[in-house]
Amino acid sequence: MVYQNILLETTARVSTLTINRPDKRNALNQATRDEILHALDSLQTSADSRVLILTGAGDKAFIAGADINEFEGRTPFTQRDSMKGRRIFDAVEEFPKPVIAMINGFCLGGGMELALACDLRLASDNAKFGQPEINLGIIPGGGGTQRLTRLVGEGKAMELILTGDLIDAAQAKQIGLVNDMFPAAELRDRVHALAARIAEKSPIALRMAKEAVKAASRMNLREGLNRETDLFCLTFSSDDKAEGVRAFLEKRKPEFKGR
Ligand code: COA
Repeated sequence: MVYQNILLETTARVSTLTINRPDKRNALNQATRDEILHALDSLQTSADSRVLILTGAGDKAFIAGADINEFEGRTPFTQRDSMKGRRIFDAVEEFPKPVIAMINGFCLGGGMELALACDLRLASDNAKFGQPEINLGIIPGGGGTQRLTRLVGEGKAMELILTGDLIDAAQAKQIGLVNDMFPAAELRDRVHALAARIAEKSPIALRMAKEAVKAASRMNLREGLNRETDLFCLTFSSDDKAEGVRAFLEKRKPEFKGR
């Protein structure tokens, strides 16, 4: 597939998917969403790719939300049809490798919801965050009411969703919405350094770890603890576990193969 709306590149085991509509502040239209799903499928099975960075082109926006042009004239039925099938938010959340949102500007609406579906969120100090759907007479529909609430708690989520107000990166860090923030000029290098460190780990252990942590918000405590035990024991079937333990005992750096 030749992509029109995204850029995809992989170097040194780290892939970067860039939403490439800077003139539209990287707003997500249907074509872009289709390309994201296609790219995720191609990366899922690629052994060359161990960590995914998701970002937006240009220096103004990560993603300014759903493409509002596509809402015009939609009825509940046509909107429902457009939301049927696999959705990018779930696809990112269920992607079996770590996904890092590199948030380089406006992170709004569906853009914030996509960032919420990622595993880590790192922002430039000039990034702005919000769920401004209420200003259009609608509500978040890409998981914002659920994932934001789980991440920052009901009080803060309610405030952001009811007011539509934007917050800056420092506030986002304070409420736990982003893991860290950096000066804009440093963001790319800092994110790539983190991605490279994670890419050295066992891909199998990363996958199990992601699934186990996600279980915490999907299951009750007993079910989640049981799932953790199962996934923990499953890692014992991998060559990577044998290599990791052997390397520790031999006082050397492990070389994980993803097997
Ligand atoms: N959908 C469609 N187009 C969008 C868009 C969106 N979510 N966000 C920005 N754009 C477009 C603008 O319409 C404009 O297009 P034009 O040049 O053809 O007129 C272009 O991107 C630049 O936007 P502009 O508003 O001029 O840029 P800005 O830097 O002054 O402001 C934002 C940036 C993100 C604050 C502002 O564009 C905005 O509020 N966007 C809507 C955010 C939103 O409500 N998202 C939730 C959607 S459910």
